[in-house]
Amino acid sequence: MPVIGYYNGKFLDPTSSVVPIEERGHEFGDGVYEVIRVYGGQPFLLDWHIERLLNSLHAIRIPSPHDADGYKELIVSAIQRSAEEEASIYLQVTRGAAARNHLFPADTTVPSVSLVVRPLSAKPDQKPGKLLIQPDERWANSYIKTLNLLPNILAKQAAHDAGADEALLVRDGHMIESASSNLWFVRDGKLITAPTDRFILPGITRRYVLELAGQLDIPVEQVKLPLSELSSVDGIFITGTILEILPIESVLSHPVFGPLDTLQSGSPHPLDVKPEECEVIWRARDLSVVEQLRQAFDAGITAFRAATSVSI
Ligand code: PDD
Repeated sequence: MPVIGYYNGKFLDPTSSVVPIEERGHEFGDGVYEVIRVYGGQPFLLDWHIERLLNSLHAIRIPSPHDADGYKELIVSAIQRSAEEEASIYLQVTRGAAARNHLFPADTTVPSVSLVVRPLSAKPDQKPGKLLIQPDERWANSYIKTLNLLPNILAKQAAHDAGADEALLVRDGHMIESASSNLWFVRDGKLITAPTDRFILPGITRRYVLELAGQLDIPVEQVKLPLSELSSVDGIFITGTILEILPIESVLSHPVFGPLDTLQSGSPHPLDVKPEECEVIWRARDLSVVEQLRQAFDAGITAFRAATSVSI
């Protein structure tokens, strides 16, 4: 099946022109979203995604057009319609369409719901990746999964231009997250990841990996690791719904950042980075714990695929 789309009650070709010009998601980025993975025709960790979606809507004061069961029914019917076994689902809810005005529109404005189901290969590319250090220039409420992703986009593009796969975001001297994934360190056999305060997204894959770590008796410390401690780290990996668990082989830096331990959010950063301008400042020493987690993740997916249906 090709990619399928949905907008406010109708399934349609996702390239069709259906969004009104004065849709607030389009004009203001006034909305929130989720990306959900489908394995074997079933949405993975769906309850957690819907819980986070409802939290995001609540945080930006959009009245949810559906309750949890309503979102589940929509998602399950979209998967059935696409007939894809392996797919991603992009689900977006905005404050709706109304004459442009920063103030919220009248209560009669109905939030818009859109969705895209896109086929995926069964397994993401898991060749160890590279990170580029970048100042975290996002706003102070990154726990909300909003549509406003410009700082994430610029950081990730800079990483790509440097020949890296992702940005390693530094806020107030601490390595807290990546542009579109959560960030983890392994030191002396222990996992270290930033706590889910207002500055990072509470990743669904992060939550799942925390459960796996518990099952595997791998100790976890939820603290913000200072950039000055990067050299003491044995392994790094990033997590996200589509990339799952990606081990990191090296971390790059660009000279414009100056002394790394003084890097703050708001530091100037190059928007056009060339690979030859960057230097490798960290290399993986031991990725065995990451491998252990990946195997446990794969086993979890295998068990999930074997399950027959989703109860809604
Ligand atoms: N990105 N941090 C950020 C900033 C993210 O955008 C994402 C996900 C994550 C990982 O969250 P999860 O495990 O729930 O996918 C962390 C999605 C996939 C995206 O924007 O496409």
